Amino acid sequence: MTTLPATILLLGSGELGKEVAIAAQRLGCHVIACDRYADAPAMQVADVSEVLAMTDREALLEVVRRHQPTVVIPEIEALAVNALAELEDEGIKVIPTARATAVTMNRDRIRDLAAGELALRTARFAYASSAEELRAEAPALGWPVVVKPVMSSSGKGQSVVDGPEGLDEAWEAAMANARGTSTHVIVEEFLRFDLEITLLTIRQRNGSTLFCPPIGHEQARGDYQCSWQPAALTDQQLREAQAMARTVTDNLGGSGLFGVEFFLCGDEVIFSELSPRPHDTGLVTLISQNLSEFELHLRAVLGLPIPGIRCADAAASRVILADRHGSKVTYTGLEEALKESETSVVLFGKREARPGRRMGVAVARGEHLAEARAKADRSATAIRLQIDD
Ligand SMILES: Nc1ncnc2c1ncn2[C@@H]1O[C@H](COP(=O)(O)OP(=O)(O)OP(=O)(O)O)[C@@H](O)[C@H]1O
Ligand SMILES: [Mg+2]
Repeated sequence: MTTLPATILLLGSGELGKEVAIAAQRLGCHVIACDRYADAPAMQVADVSEVLAMTDREALLEVVRRHQPTVVIPEIEALAVNALAELEDEGIKVIPTARATAVTMNRDRIRDLAAGELALRTARFAYASSAEELRAEAPALGWPVVVKPVMSSSGKGQSVVDGPEGLDEAWEAAMANARGTSTHVIVEEFLRFDLEITLLTIRQRNGSTLFCPPIGHEQARGDYQCSWQPAALTDQQLREAQAMARTVTDNLGGSGLFGVEFFLCGDEVIFSELSPRPHDTGLVTLISQNLSEFELHLRAVLGLPIPGIRCADAAASRVILADRHGSKVTYTGLEEALKESETSVVLFGKREARPGRRMGVAVARGEHLAEARAKADRSATAIRLQIDD
């Protein structure tokens, strides 16, 4: 039985956490939003805000013990995951589990689990602990290869390398941009995929695993630019992706929503990685589904029923990005951006702009994908940012 109000402590207070906080507030929950900077998006709608270094074990333990939340919901990867394991041992629920947050934080751990223990199809890969080892391992994968730090997100420190002469630079870039202290990199075959997708997968406390219709997306400069739902997969591809998502999320356990990423190459479905939390490409569900990925996450976390997920015929999202640094940001063009039916704009309320920082998203529904995508694109383009120092 679920008793409300629950006390929810969010580790990470970005735009995805903000939507989880809003969903929690609608159920009258008490929300504590944590991040490393003040006035982060989720803090703007939380009951209490805490600013701390969430990679600092002591600081993280202190804040969670002081608040004694019903659940800790991680929103980002960069956390002191050993502290989460300690808290779990003390009886505090961590979503989906402390182990899942640890395994998915490291590319090598999730890759060893997926490709090794669970035998899922992934890109061919190797690890290297020095530039020399990288030069020894890469050629067997065929050119180009992709070199990635084992700990990083948003494409940081990643390079596509066309031949042996580029490997030293890729090694340096991976080392320089890795999160934490890193001793090795992963090098992968470069997949010439037709499409990449996110399969939102929900593990329930008292119910079967559920799937949202697959979301197609495009990435550039390390971040997602646009997404659409449903992505066109054959029945066979969808069954395979769902089976793989179920296998890996069953292994990770716990309850909550996961964003499971796949590449589609011809008929092949290739597992990439996953987030044990709402996924940025899933922002499209703010308009596409009867329950957004954030509401689904919260229901799964609280053990509430999810009797059905209904999705529009076609929906899309397009990010709204800043193009320069500045701390005074104003938005115009809303009249133009919102003039079409079934179109909506979400501005995250970030106080600081930086080149490429995601400040908002435009979402739209349409009768078919081309229409939904064009509407989201027009709406995002209509928003003008004025950024001053
Ligand atoms: N082996 C590969 N072949 C081709 N493209 C790739 C490969 N690996 C990654 N990419 C591209 O780079 C993007 C980012 O890679 P990946 O998801 O592994 O890194 P990430 O830094 O964890 O990203 P995020 O945290 O934003 O999901 C992918 O979405 C895909 O577009
Ligand atoms: Mg990714």
